[in-house]
Amino acid sequence: MSTGFYETDAALGQYLLFHYGTPEQICPLLPDARAACGFPVRCVTEALSGLELERKARALDLGCAVGRSSFELARHFDQVIGLDFSARFIAAAQRMQTERAAVIRVPREGGAVDELHLELPPDLRTKRVAFETGNACALRANLGKFDLVLMANLIDRLPNPAACLARMPDLVSPGGWLVITSPYTWLEEYTPREKWLDGGGRGTLAALREHLAPAFSLHRVFDLAFLIREHRRKYQWSIAEASVWRRGADHS
Ligand SMILES: C[S@@+](CC[C@H](N)C(=O)[O-])C[C@H]1O[C@@H](n2cnc3c(N)ncnc32)[C@H](O)[C@@H]1O
Repeated sequence: MSTGFYETDAALGQYLLFHYGTPEQICPLLPDARAACGFPVRCVTEALSGLELERKARALDLGCAVGRSSFELARHFDQVIGLDFSARFIAAAQRMQTERAAVIRVPREGGAVDELHLELPPDLRTKRVAFETGNACALRANLGKFDLVLMANLIDRLPNPAACLARMPDLVSPGGWLVITSPYTWLEEYTPREKWLDGGGRGTLAALREHLAPAFSLHRVFDLAFLIREHRRKYQWSIAEASVWRRGADHS
């Protein structure tokens, strides 16, 4: 299966802008379209709003890309691990952590580029975050337990999503939380057809419920739009479904 896109220059620029760009940098031409900017921040703030976080020791951002949601989780948790398969994305996240800024060149139109200066908000607690490369379908055995695991727009990019979900009861502490967001864009390029979690026509949420039971129960579902810039006049506008799951105390 292909994960090669996430090692390319195009993906790196696109995701640094998606994570750290201001709405004006992402969408300079049409202010009305900017409501869908800031997804890596909103998927943390909106998922956590109203949650009873009994323990705030550790969080895991699986498929963290260039790291913005990991830094946002560090506003709430003492220690955050950001893990991604892409070595280039993890290196960029680590550079953002130390340099707190980056200059990117992203397509404007045709061969023209926009050079943009990106900055990490000054109040983000970068020292609480550790980034590492890894495979969400075969995670290292000694990752430990987490009070919250975030999987933002990862599940439909995995070669074996069920294997990833099967590890969750072991990773999330009893009483802890699992947040999954996804536009459920299943593609054979990333996931063999027989491994799609589309519930055989009943939808991905139904499949998630089956794979996560009995250890997790569904707490809340909501929609989150997001905007990824391809060039100044072309965007991916998608609606992720966010599902928030609570790990029961009685299941191992
Ligand atoms: C659609 S992007 C979403 C990234 C980020 N969570 C966000 O919301 O912007 C999918 C991410 O999953 C990562 N990824 C793909 N396969 C993976 C795997 N097997 N293990 C860990 N990360 C993986 C990619 O490198 C990429 O960063």
